[in-house]
Amino acid sequence: MLEEHAHAVDETGHSAETETSGTLRDDFIRKDVYFSAEIARQEAAMLWMRTWQMACREEELPTIGSFVTYEIVGQSVIVVRTGEADIKAYQNSCPHRGRQLIDHQCGSVTRFYCPFHGWRWDLQGKNTYIRNAEDWDCRGGLSHGEAGLAEVKVGRWGGFVFINFDAGCEAFEKFIDPVPENLGRLEFEKMRFTWYKTMEIKCNWKVAIESFMESYHVPSTHFQTLPFLDAVTTSRERGKHGSHTNRGGRPFGMPAIETGRPEPEHFAEAFSAAIQRIARETGGVGTTSSRGASIVAEAVAGFGPEADPIDVMKAYAARLRQQAIDEGAGWHDLTAQDMAELGVDWSLFPNMVLVFGVDSSLVMRARPHGADPGRCLLDMWAMLRVAPAAASSFKREYYENYREHRADIPPLLYQDLSNMERVQAGMSCSSFKGSRLNPVQERQIYNMHRGIAAYLTGGWA
Ligand code: FES
Ligand SMILES: [Fe+2]
Repeated sequence: MLEEHAHAVDETGHSAETETSGTLRDDFIRKDVYFSAEIARQEAAMLWMRTWQMACREEELPTIGSFVTYEIVGQSVIVVRTGEADIKAYQNSCPHRGRQLIDHQCGSVTRFYCPFHGWRWDLQGKNTYIRNAEDWDCRGGLSHGEAGLAEVKVGRWGGFVFINFDAGCEAFEKFIDPVPENLGRLEFEKMRFTWYKTMEIKCNWKVAIESFMESYHVPSTHFQTLPFLDAVTTSRERGKHGSHTNRGGRPFGMPAIETGRPEPEHFAEAFSAAIQRIARETGGVGTTSSRGASIVAEAVAGFGPEADPIDVMKAYAARLRQQAIDEGAGWHDLTAQDMAELGVDWSLFPNMVLVFGVDSSLVMRARPHGADPGRCLLDMWAMLRVAPAAASSFKREYYENYREHRADIPPLLYQDLSNMERVQAGMSCSSFKGSRLNPVQERQIYNMHRGIAAYLTGGWA
């Protein structure tokens, strides 16, 4: 596939190579990776069956026996809590004649039971009952390996549960590096869902997730942010993963430089309005949170027009920290400088994005939906840092047609959705040969394609 990429590069008529890895160019992605049924089949066999991928959150498995089913490329996996600190995953398939053992998305069991002929297993996947087991004696009996549930590998980080179908895959710790050492201090494991949406989108899964892997689109798609957000960014590879950070324009609360507008006369008021607006538009999590929105006006009330923006932001940060502590949610030790270096967005290979702030995060995940490369499932989850003892309460919403649920989708995220199917449609035009990625602001997308190409050609280089 790498060779085919190299061939496609010639078709663009652009000869200048910018920084590359192998033969995949960082500013050109050929279009057929979004359309080809053959490439979708290769991704199913070579990527999804071999890479680590996020299956669920630990909070979805609150007690022993709690399970979630995870579906990908025709496979179904049961992720189940088997002990206070133990989580396992099994193929959702009865070893007798294949019936799915679980046919719903979540729930709780004390053991596994096949409704077809009644075989049973304990939570460890060990078979405990075969009706008329003696009937197999004439064939030497059924071995434990044949009658037990087929295990799928599990990795865990930040309250996320990852699975891998490939028994010979790379160690999870190697795969996830360097995410824990960077994002670990934000303590994602202390966050809980505030809302949870899954929706069907008529575009390739990569189109959907790429929408969240760059902020280059923010000034145009989210034009309403221009008066208070300077979103020029630089993105970079982080192993298989990627991130982007603000390039050091104006501070949050001031108009984007490209607007030509002056700095606000009263920064504290502009900052407060911006915090509240972004929290409202992103569903109370992400860059700013509902907690931040609830305290910002009071936190900066004492600052007049002459106040130094740094002092305003410090007062807000201190008040937000105190609010979280007062609520029992505790706090981390990240400084403003640490947060600036972490950036605003990390993508986790292959199909997951975190858009985060100091106490919350949006989680995006895109997967193929059926064999059609033009269809996907997109998860949008919201998580807020809360007290450890707080009960997890959220409703799983599923939208076959997200347009019918516009009132329930945060407006800024609806703007992202409104691009996806139009991108897929526009890319199908014969004039379009491939994506001309911004090599500075869209490197995360390039790095995802680099990773996928490596999997399709035999392994991560
Ligand atoms: S298919 Fe499960 S017991 Fe027969
Ligand atoms: Fe966006």
